[in-house]
Amino acid sequence: MHEHHGVQHFGATAQAAEWDARYRERDGTMWSGRPNGRLVAEVAALTPGPGLDVGCGEGADAIWLAQHGWTVTAIDISEVAICRAREASHPAGASVEWICGDTLQTPFTARSFDLVSMQYPALPKAAGEAAVRRLLDTVRPGGLLLAVYHGPDDEHREHMKSQGVDPADYVGADDLFLLLGDHFTVELHAVAPRIDPPPGTPHIADVVLRARRR
Ligand SMILES: C[S@@+](CC[C@H](N)C(=O)[O-])C[C@H]1O[C@@H](n2cnc3c(N)ncnc32)[C@H](O)[C@@H]1O
Repeated sequence: MHEHHGVQHFGATAQAAEWDARYRERDGTMWSGRPNGRLVAEVAALTPGPGLDVGCGEGADAIWLAQHGWTVTAIDISEVAICRAREASHPAGASVEWICGDTLQTPFTARSFDLVSMQYPALPKAAGEAAVRRLLDTVRPGGLLLAVYHGPDDEHREHMKSQGVDPADYVGADDLFLLLGDHFTVELHAVAPRIDPPPGTPHIADVVLRARRR
């Protein structure tokens, strides 16, 4: 889905600069502009409510959610991505609260979202478990956490390491799973075929974590 470049830094400012640079590498958009297939499949039948899109990128998921009745807050650390997302939302007629910031340092209200969606997130473990727990705490009782990651792929992992990025430094599905504790019922935690992958992508398997707050 994307290439990682350069040495990683975990400070929010450095992260933002790295992601901005990555987005700026392309004059046009970096992602397909289509919502992620797994999100659409998992959410289409739900009753819309307040939703949070974590690491929303150029906004296709948030726009799709808004068009389907969700009251969407979408956050990304990259200003370039948020600008593109905001621009894309106007012709789409989608009303989204766009936030440029670090998800793990943004004080969202606890238990305020019916859906917290994390599609291919890149949240550094260095931010600490407490920050990730606070994010999980934003899911309302009865609400859904949907976290989707690229499937296990040794070749890609080695490629990323060769670029100075170790996936082990980022909060993965297994890490989230361990933090859910007794507060959530895990409905799905599995490798699954990617639904409606963008043409030409090498990433055709996902790790999906779907959990409902008790
Ligand atoms: C792999 S992209 C996925 C984008 C989008 N969810 C999608 O599926 O197309 C990861 C996104 O997370 C954003 N990101 C990285 N760290 C973040 C953080 N701490 N808080 C918010 N967004 C972050 C990046 O800027 C990037 O847009």
